[in-house]
Amino acid sequence: MNKYDSETMCKILLNKGYKQTTNLDKADIILINTCAVREKAEEKALSIVGRLADLKQKKPDLIAGVIGCVAQERGSHLFKRFPFLDLIIGPRNINSIDTFISKIEDGGGRLLSTDLSDKMMSFTKNNGYLKGRAASFLKIMEGCDNFCSYCIVPFVRGREFSVPAREIITEAKNLINHGIKEITLIGQNVNSYNVKDRARPTFPELLEKLDEIQGLKRLRFVTSHPKDLSDDLIAAFGKLRSLCPHIHLPFQSGSNKILKRMNRGYTRDDYIDLIRGLRETRPDIAITSDVIAGFPGEDNQDFENTLKLVEDIRFDNLFSFKYSQRPGTRAMHLDTKVADEEKQRRLSILQESQREITLSKNRALEGTIQEVLVEGPAKRGYSYLEGRTLGNKVVNFPSDINLAGRLVNVKINNGFQNSLFGELIQN
Ligand code: 5AD
Ligand code: SF4
Repeated sequence: MNKYDSETMCKILLNKGYKQTTNLDKADIILINTCAVREKAEEKALSIVGRLADLKQKKPDLIAGVIGCVAQERGSHLFKRFPFLDLIIGPRNINSIDTFISKIEDGGGRLLSTDLSDKMMSFTKNNGYLKGRAASFLKIMEGCDNFCSYCIVPFVRGREFSVPAREIITEAKNLINHGIKEITLIGQNVNSYNVKDRARPTFPELLEKLDEIQGLKRLRFVTSHPKDLSDDLIAAFGKLRSLCPHIHLPFQSGSNKILKRMNRGYTRDDYIDLIRGLRETRPDIAITSDVIAGFPGEDNQDFENTLKLVEDIRFDNLFSFKYSQRPGTRAMHLDTKVADEEKQRRLSILQESQREITLSKNRALEGTIQEVLVEGPAKRGYSYLEGRTLGNKVVNFPSDINLAGRLVNVKINNGFQNSLFGELIQN
């Protein structure tokens, strides 16, 4: 979501005639987009902001801004801590970034904009794309109404807002006309798309409409929430030609007691049933997930239940995090906190277990032929290309010609920890 937001600002400013630079000393505007989901991300963002002080001293007319969730959370406090800042802009306000910058350029002084209302949600400016891509994100929702007890997102991104289907379809066609082959729909909780207005298309209906667009080769979405993953959505994996066999479905904990304290709205068995349904509908579906270690009140038995779920389900990949206390959230007031060393111990056990599962899943693909959307040169060197499979796994393969943007067949020769390696098969 933050990558998307950063690119949106970039697109808006490029359209206004600004140019991108990788040289900080040359930049006239520096905007730091920030994440507040865990304390560590926030600290990292603020330390980067701190480093702008020097640049601003060397170049007093530099426009320096903090954007996104930390800007929303801390608001004007950031002006106190970093008096050199010109801009503090919350995530709902980035579509007006050009207006804010013009005001400052016109000598309007520093500016704070953290309005969380829906009136800020204009998507009309958000057209265009950054060159040289085969795949693109497309935001269909903003905000979250779920209030999981550990999560700061509902406070910093505000109430759920669904982009009208008409605008999403226009933007999808625009991306495809510019050579995009794969679109990933993004939102904090895509299953809630239009739930506030029953007269409008549901999320599975939106997928159906997009699937009808000629030229769209691959359709994906993140993130969905287990509590409202409908039968219709599961069925979509069995019938939509472009929908990729991959779902990211965070489970957060395998203990019913902890799920309840997290306010997640489903049980361990509900989650297992969903996975069964998905795998019955689409046996080759890749499943990835998020989990939190050391939520307040998590005892050894709760953790064992989580570990057992990871071992039973065998995710293709798992993103695991130590619980991080976030201001304003309900979990902050829960007692029986887990000590940091214990959180770390549990996190390491989860990661070690998943490492083996990921590797064995990747190895199981050795000898198979995978459809790969080529994204460009691989990091390992220019005679190699990199792309992703339908299940969203990274593949490297040697090639003398640049096939970026093409769908090719690759025979997988090696399954590694973080990627697959193969050779091109003539179509
Ligand atoms: N502490 C740790 N992890 C968190 N996440 C969200 N909030 C917190 C927190 N306070 C994780 C969840 C979510 C992912 C994006 O970040 O697992 O799915
Ligand atoms: Fe946070 Fe829960 Fe909303 Fe995800 S669904 S953004 S974890 S509150």
